[in-house]
Parts: sequence; C-alpha cells; structure tokens
Amino acid sequence: MSKRFYITTAIDYVNGQPHLGHAYEKIIADVIARARRSLGEEVFFLTGLDEHGQKVQQAAIAEKKSPQAYCDELAADWKNFAKKLELANDDFVRTTEPRHKEFVQTTLSKLNDAGQFYRKTYAGFYSTKEETFLTEKDRLPDGTFDPTYGEVVELKEDNYYFKLGAHQQWLIDYIEANPLFIQPDYRRNEVLGFLKNNTLEDLCISRPAARLNWGIPLPFDKNFVTYVWFDALVNYISIPNAHQKLELWPANVHVIGKDILKFHAVYWPIMLKAMNLPLPKQILVHGWWQKDGAKISKSTGNIVDPIAVIDEWGLDAFRFYVLRELDIGPDGNWTDAGFRSRYSAELANGLGNLVNRSLSMLKRYRNGIVPAKSDELAADAAKAADETRALLKQNQLQAALQSIWSLVNRANKYVDETAPFKLAKDPAQVKRLDEVLYNLVETCRVLAILLNPFLPGTSAKIFAQLGLKETSDKFSQAVWGKLNSGHQIGEPAPLFPRKDI
Ligand code: ME8
Ligand code: MG
Repeated sequence: MSKRFYITTAIDYVNGQPHLGHAYEKIIADVIARARRSLGEEVFFLTGLDEHGQKVQQAAIAEKKSPQAYCDELAADWKNFAKKLELANDDFVRTTEPRHKEFVQTTLSKLNDAGQFYRKTYAGFYSTKEETFLTEKDRLPDGTFDPTYGEVVELKEDNYYFKLGAHQQWLIDYIEANPLFIQPDYRRNEVLGFLKNNTLEDLCISRPAARLNWGIPLPFDKNFVTYVWFDALVNYISIPNAHQKLELWPANVHVIGKDILKFHAVYWPIMLKAMNLPLPKQILVHGWWQKDGAKISKSTGNIVDPIAVIDEWGLDAFRFYVLRELDIGPDGNWTDAGFRSRYSAELANGLGNLVNRSLSMLKRYRNGIVPAKSDELAADAAKAADETRALLKQNQLQAALQSIWSLVNRANKYVDETAPFKLAKDPAQVKRLDEVLYNLVETCRVLAILLNPFLPGTSAKIFAQLGLKETSDKFSQAVWGKLNSGHQIGEPAPLFPRKDI
C-alpha cells in the first residue's frame, strides 16, 4: 500500500445554496486532483458539508424544520452541485454521518484522557452569528463590536477548553522551518505575524446543550456539545479513518479560503500535535470573489449563480473563467463582460477555432486521414507540456493555463502563416499541406491532454473528434508524434459555439 496524494476542500455550511466562492474552491481542488492523477499519482479527493452548529440550527428553525431534515434536504442539493461541477471527488463527507461523529467522540475522549482539556467558567460577550467569544480587545474604538459579529450578547457559562498556549512557540518554529506549509507566502507571513504578536488563548471546544443542541455531544459530559469548528476540522482525518485500506493521512493539500486561515493554520496543527499525528503538507489559501467590485451578498442580490452560468455557457467555460481570471491567493472580481470576453477570445476564437479548423481541414483536404508525421510544432508543444507539468506540481493553475494558451496561440498563428487553404489549391504543395495538417492535429491532441485537468469535458470531446479511443488523462501521452499516419479522425464539431450578444 502506498500513500496517496490526499487533497481536501473546506466543508461548506449547509445554511444556504452554493455560490461562486464555493464553486471556485471545489474547482481548484478538482483540477489539482485530476492533474496529479494525470501525472500518474494515486489520489484521494475529499469534499463535503459542515452540518452542525448555530448557523445551521438557526437556518433550520427559520424554515420550521428539524436540523436533520433541513440538512438532508440541502445535502441533496450540494451533492448535485458537486456533480454539476463534475468534481472527481472520491468521497463526500457530511459531519452528521455516524462514521464522522463516532470518530470525533473517540478523538475527544482520547484528548480528554490525555489531560488536554479543562473546564472553566466564562463571563463575557458572545457573537451568536460567528459562534465566537469576544473580549474587550475586540471592541471598536467607539465601544461597539464589528457588525460582522451580528448581535453580541453578554453571558456567563461553563465550558471545556483545549490548551493551545503551550504549543505556540512550537508552531512558530514549524511554520518557519516549512515554508511551503502555508501558501501563498503572504498568508504564511500573516499567520507568523499573528502568532508572534499575540498570546494564544485556549480554545473553547464546547457549547452548553441547553443553549445549542445541534452538535456532537461531548462523550465525557452530555450537558455539552462539541464546538462546530472542532467537529468540522476533524473531517480531514475521520474520513481517512473510514477508508482503512488506503494510506491517506497526512493530507498533501488543504484548499481553503482566506477567512478560515486561523482555524487551519493555528488550531488544526495544534489539535493534530495533541493527537500525535503528522501535519498536513500544505494549506493552500485562495482569495475571495466579488461581483462588480462589491461583496457577494444574497440580501443585496449581488450574486453569481454558478448553475445558471453553467446551464447557459457550459461547465468548462465556467471552470476556465474562474481559474484563468484569478490566481490562487488574491481576491477576484467577477464581471459578466469579463466572462463573455474570455469566452469569446480564448475559448471560441482561441481553442475552439483552432481545433475546429484543424480537424475540418483534415476532413476536407485528406478525408480525415492523418498524413505522414512532421515536427514543426514539436518544440512548441514540448515547451508547453513541460511548463504545464512543472506548474501543476506547484499548484500554479493560472500560469499553467497561460502556458497552454501560448501553444493555442502559436498554433493559430501557424495556420495564418502557412495558409493551408491556399496550399490546398496548389498541386505542387501536396507535401507541404500534409506537414501543416499533421502539425495541427497533433497539436490538438497534445492540447487535449494538457487541458484535461482543467476542462475535462472539452478534453474528452477533442479526443472523440480526433477519433481516439483512449482517454486523454495521461500526461505521459503528451509527447509529440503519438498520432499515427493513416489514422482516421472522427467528426469535427464546434467546442464553444460563438454567441452573438
Ligand atoms: O467556513 N469567494 O464554510 P463556508 C471565495 N464550514 N471563496 C469563498 C467565498 C467567496 N466569496 N465565500 C466563501 C466554512 N468562500 C466552514 C469551513 S472547514 C473544516 C469548515 C469559501 O460555507 C470560504 O473561504 O462559510 C471557505 O473556504 C468555503 O467557501 C466554505 O465557506
Ligand atoms: Mg463563511
């Protein structure tokens, strides 16, 4: 048994429908998972839902449903959403499943037996919305709390706490010694800055059941349920535990958004240390999408509905736009005009046009039969393949797409330069036309393989149009000259129909 490349996403709260931000994160993880498979690695890709806690309980109450019934209904929508995005995930976790809940309880018992928890009385302020205890330090200069905390109430209650402070210096040392642990670098620096300038307070890991009962009961005190974050983070190891035959932990990559960095880069490593488990290799932090320069918000109607975009433009157009537009790290801005412009320039007129005219000319001039091999574009294809492979290993998805498009553009320029439609009229140019056509179809084949992790549907369509029976998901096949002369291609059809607006 060999260790698999194990990649996870954040698990989403089921307190509403999936939006652009959720889709983006899952697509990032999906591309990395598919890329690793294409590179020949064994992969395990996990995504799923975070179903406990106040937010979900309140959303259920608002719809006059039991939390479990509410979660069951929404979980069906979210699973369909994962299908709609064509995620190649190997499992889908719901934190209300017995396999997860039992593992969380076992973990809590072990940590409690090891003396990692203590009970104390807290008196202070509490944000229900963020399920967070606040202190005087959290007050704004005018004495109020930040509006993101919602209603802040004063309360006094007993809870269980996890000892974090003892591990603060260890964590600083670890992050400094492992530069790839938190990426990009500016997120890593943010965590280091936080750890060096603050004393870590112990983490409250319980909520009194009398106040919030939608959670996993503490195994050692039934008057309390587990704090939702302690429950949620454990999904990354409860699910590997449910796949005993596979070697998964430590995760290679946790893909998360910038707002949940502290949970993943501070609390989670310390929890794992207390459990004597190795840390994940990397926490990969993406930025947040806005639409038209403003926060995505249901209440103001400023949203992008991924399902509507996919239904109108196709899944691969959606996947392409989010990955090509925004590098993993900074915040991004969705505009419908920007989406259309990339669709038309890069997909319809770029890739789509190249594949369609290459295959159509081969059909028209050579009855769809691949001519003798030629290697005029071989070096360009090799450069794109080498770069793409190297960039994908570093999770540089946007740069990999740029590299692939440099080949698309090169090949389109080659059509303009060689003008095969003119060559076809000149009987003296039969051999030259053969060369040009071979270079074009073979470039299409290599492109299909490079594109597979990003645009799996399009990649498969190109292979089908090329009349190839094998799958396009092996980078080892992205070497020049695999398309044999005499091979009969299939039927060309537009990949990205032009839309006149
Ligand atoms: O935080 N742009 O769940 P969540 C980009 N359950 N990403 C966005 C985004 C946006 N506008 N809005 C949200 C939770 N996200 C917890 C996670 S993990 C053990 C528990 C991202 O549904 C966000 O950054 O609020 C997070 O990574 C993911 O969507 C789920 O957010
Ligand atoms: Mg959130």
